[in-house]
Amino acid sequence: MSDTARTPLHPIEKKVLSSLSGRRTLDFDSLVASAGLVPDQVRRSISWLSSKGLVDVQEASTFVLIASDVPPPELLLVSKLEESRGSLPMAEMKAHFKSNQEFSAALGRASSAGWISIVPQQSGPVITLKDPEGAKKLRGVLSKLAGGLNESEAGPEFRDLSADLLKRGLLTRRVSRITTMTITQQGLDALASAETESYAEKLTPELLASVRSSGVAVKLRPIDVRAPAASFFPGRRHPVKEFINEVREVYLSMGFVEIAGDSVQSSLWNFDALFTPQDHPARELQDTFYIKGGRDQGLQRTDVVARVASAHENGWETGSKGWRYSWDIEEARRLVLRTHTTALTVRATMDSADKETRVFTIGRVYRNENLDYKHLAELTQMEGIVIGEGLNLRHLMGLLTRFYGKLGMSRVKLWPSYFPYTEPAMQVMIYYEKVGRWIEMGGSGIFRPEVTRPLGVRKPVLAWGLGLERLLMLRLGIQDIRELYNSDVEWLRRRREIASSPDIL
Ligand code: PHE
Repeated sequence: MSDTARTPLHPIEKKVLSSLSGRRTLDFDSLVASAGLVPDQVRRSISWLSSKGLVDVQEASTFVLIASDVPPPELLLVSKLEESRGSLPMAEMKAHFKSNQEFSAALGRASSAGWISIVPQQSGPVITLKDPEGAKKLRGVLSKLAGGLNESEAGPEFRDLSADLLKRGLLTRRVSRITTMTITQQGLDALASAETESYAEKLTPELLASVRSSGVAVKLRPIDVRAPAASFFPGRRHPVKEFINEVREVYLSMGFVEIAGDSVQSSLWNFDALFTPQDHPARELQDTFYIKGGRDQGLQRTDVVARVASAHENGWETGSKGWRYSWDIEEARRLVLRTHTTALTVRATMDSADKETRVFTIGRVYRNENLDYKHLAELTQMEGIVIGEGLNLRHLMGLLTRFYGKLGMSRVKLWPSYFPYTEPAMQVMIYYEKVGRWIEMGGSGIFRPEVTRPLGVRKPVLAWGLGLERLLMLRLGIQDIRELYNSDVEWLRRRREIASSPDIL
C-alpha cells in the first residue's frame, strides 16, 4: 500500500465510498445524487479514490434512441378517425395532410397494416377504423422514446419497430458516453476501517475545551500537504508595469520628482533643443516616425527658439562655432513620435529656470528599428536629469552606479561615447553574470552649453536615458525581449517573480 492509500479518508471520500458500497456500481449522476454532493466534489474524490485503487472507473458508450417530435403520418390518420367516431370521407381526411404524398403514404401504411379499411360509397370513398391495436402500440413506443431511451434497455417491441422508424428519420440514434464507478475490495476494506476510527476534522477552540475538560484525546485527521492542489492565479500586474513601479520607487527614494509629457513632440524638443543638426542621420525617416503632414504651427520664433537657432548656426554666446548652416523653423515644427524621453528632460531643463533640479520620467519611445531579440520599435526609457552647481562626471558616475545598485545590478561600467547634446558622454554597461557579458543599457553625459544656455541654464546638467526592457529581460531571465509583449497568458500567469534585489530602498 502506498502512503496515500494509508492516509485516512476524507469525509467526502467516505460519502462516495459508502454510496458505492450498497450497489457497488453506479453511474456518475446517480452517484452524485446518492452521495448528496456536488458534481465537482464527486469528480475530484473519484479521481483520488481511483488513484488509490479504492474505486474502479469504467468508461462505456451506449446508443440512445430518440423519437422526433413529428409523429408518423399514419398515426395522424388514425387520430383523425378516432376524433370522428371511426370514419371520415376520403376528401375530408386529405385536408388534414400537408401534401398528397404524405397523405398517400399514411393511407398506404395504415391500410397495409390492417388498421383501416376503405369503403366505397356513392358520395365517394370513406375511411373507417378497422383494427387500431398496432397503431396504439406504435404510439406507446414513440412516447417512451420521446425523452430518449438507452438501446440496451429497449425491449423486443422497440427493436421490431426501430429499424423502420430509423430508416424513415422518425427516430435518431446517438452515442452517449457513460462513466460508471465500482468500489473495489480494497475500497470496501478502507471504508470498513474508516467506520471504526474517528477523526476530528477541524481544530477548534470548542474541541480544545472539550478535550481539556474530558481528558479524552482526540485524533485529528492527518492532511497530506504534498497532495496536488488546483492552481490558483490571482490577478497580477504585467511584468513591465510592475518593474516600472519599482524603478519609480528607486528614483523617488533618491529624491527625484517625476515628470511626464506627450508621445508626439515637435522636432524642436526631440532634436533641435538638443543641438541635433537638422541634417543629422537620426532625424531621417528610416530612424524616426514622423506624423504625416504634422506641424506644430504654434511654434513661433520666441526668444528661446531664436537662441536655439543661433546655437545651431553660429554657437550663439556659448563659445562654440555651432553647426554652421541655416536653421529652418519649418523643420523644427515637424511632429514626431518621440524617439527618446530626452525630449521631456530637455524641456524640464528650461523649466528649471537654472534652479537645483532632480527630475525623472519613465515612458515609451518609438524608433523605426528592425525587431530582434534585443530590439523593439516601442520601448520604455527611464530617464533623468540633475541640475546643480559644481556637478561633474564623477557625480554622474556615482549616481548611475547607485541607481543600478538599487535595482540589483552591482556591476556598472561607463564607456566614452558620443551624443550631439552631451560633452562628455558615456555609454552605460551592465554586467550580466548569467551570460558573462557586458550589456549596453543606454547613454548619459553632461548637456553641452549649446543645449543649456539657450534654455537659460548655466549650471551643469547631468543627463541619462536608459532602456527599461533590456534590464527587465535580465531580471526575468528571458532570452528574447519580444517575449515581454507577447501577452502569452500562460507565461504571464506562471512567470516567476521579478527577482528583487536585497538593497532596494
Ligand atoms: N537619448 C539617449 C538615447 O535615447 C540617451 C541619453 C540621454 C544620452 C541623455 C545622453 C544624455 O539613447
